[in-house]
Amino acid sequence: MNGHRTLSDWSYGKLLSLVAEYGTPLYVIDLDRIRKNYRRLSSAFPDANIYYAAKANTAGAVLQTLGRMGAGIECVSAGELYRSMRAGIEPAKLLYTAVNPPDPDLDFAVDLSDITINIGSHDTLRRLSERNYSGRICLRINTGSGAGHHKYVSTGSDAKFGFSPEQALEILSKYSSYDFNIVGIHAHAGSGISPQEMDVHQNLCKTLGDISRSSPIDLEFIDIGGGFGVPYGPEDTPLNLSEVSSKIYNSLGDTSANIVLEPGRYIVADAGILLTTINTIKYLDSHNIVGVDAGMHTLIRPALYGSYHDIKNISSPHNDSSLPNTTVTGPICESADLLGVNIELGASTPGDILAIGNAGAYGEAMESQYNSFPRSATVAIDGENVGLIRKRETIEDLCLYENEVDWF
Ligand SMILES: Cc1ncc(COP(=O)(O)O)c(C=O)c1O
Repeated sequence: MNGHRTLSDWSYGKLLSLVAEYGTPLYVIDLDRIRKNYRRLSSAFPDANIYYAAKANTAGAVLQTLGRMGAGIECVSAGELYRSMRAGIEPAKLLYTAVNPPDPDLDFAVDLSDITINIGSHDTLRRLSERNYSGRICLRINTGSGAGHHKYVSTGSDAKFGFSPEQALEILSKYSSYDFNIVGIHAHAGSGISPQEMDVHQNLCKTLGDISRSSPIDLEFIDIGGGFGVPYGPEDTPLNLSEVSSKIYNSLGDTSANIVLEPGRYIVADAGILLTTINTIKYLDSHNIVGVDAGMHTLIRPALYGSYHDIKNISSPHNDSSLPNTTVTGPICESADLLGVNIELGASTPGDILAIGNAGAYGEAMESQYNSFPRSATVAIDGENVGLIRKRETIEDLCLYENEVDWF
């Protein structure tokens, strides 16, 4: 089944009891839903190796849950590698996508035996040689196929990412001159690819299939990236995974290489929710403004990408439209501080709890302390189990790493 979980599928009573215990803003992540999403993807791609893209949600409990299911982890920094190993993932199950990697990150990665490093520039090749790296590498290829929910995440056609197909073939042809072992090729079209954009992704797969057949060495794997989109708004449709999978295999064509996928959002988006309390309501002639205690610092997607998230009042879930044309905004001193624009809320009063759906991907992971608001807490649920997996920061935590200068 390709079903996607919506806000109304959550138990409002349970969410309200979590708020009573842990306060708001509060992220809730459902580990069992993560397992279900992972299983759905792995049964659509039974022969593929899945490397969960940690950037979508780096919580230790999430990494642990997926690691125990056999997933590898795709990491983009030493920090993500560190978090993954802390969650019990072996380096052999880690794929490090080194995008313009800082020296300390490269140093950290080359020290991990059996890791695979995915690189997309000649300078990174040189820097690996300078470090006497002799392990596994993968070549990231810019296929020119970019797709995704926003231009900022349609990285497949951005020259920052990857070698051109010609450069990749040239590197493959010189494989014997390198100390390291070239084991795979990779491309990523972008994040949040909708069913309507899947043809772009197929072009990417076709290019990767062609390169693997022209490669002078047999490749262990072809990594087709992540990017599987999920529906956020009422008009969005879920991907039909069995259709997507057969199109992907057709586009790749004949190959003996294993297929690798790097899904982030698909695994965690609908497993997470953000709960927030209404502080203020302004009734205006043109629209209404509902001010809550979460904001762009808690969930930046609406401010950064103009993303839509479903929002419901779970304290009084009336289906009336008492508050039409409503803006839901946070406490940040910026007009970009938007969580919902032009939405319809039922009758609401200060103190009510709003739930913001599909907040499991790129929510907590992108949270900041902007305007000096301590970061929120996160609770994991798993069947009947409930556990605080990230403590709420305190005001004192804001200054934890601050040093006073000694010349005043
Ligand atoms: C290289 C790479 N792989 C995987 C992903 C995960 O994408 P998504 O969360 O859309 O599946 C990203 C996200 O941008 C990425 O850059």
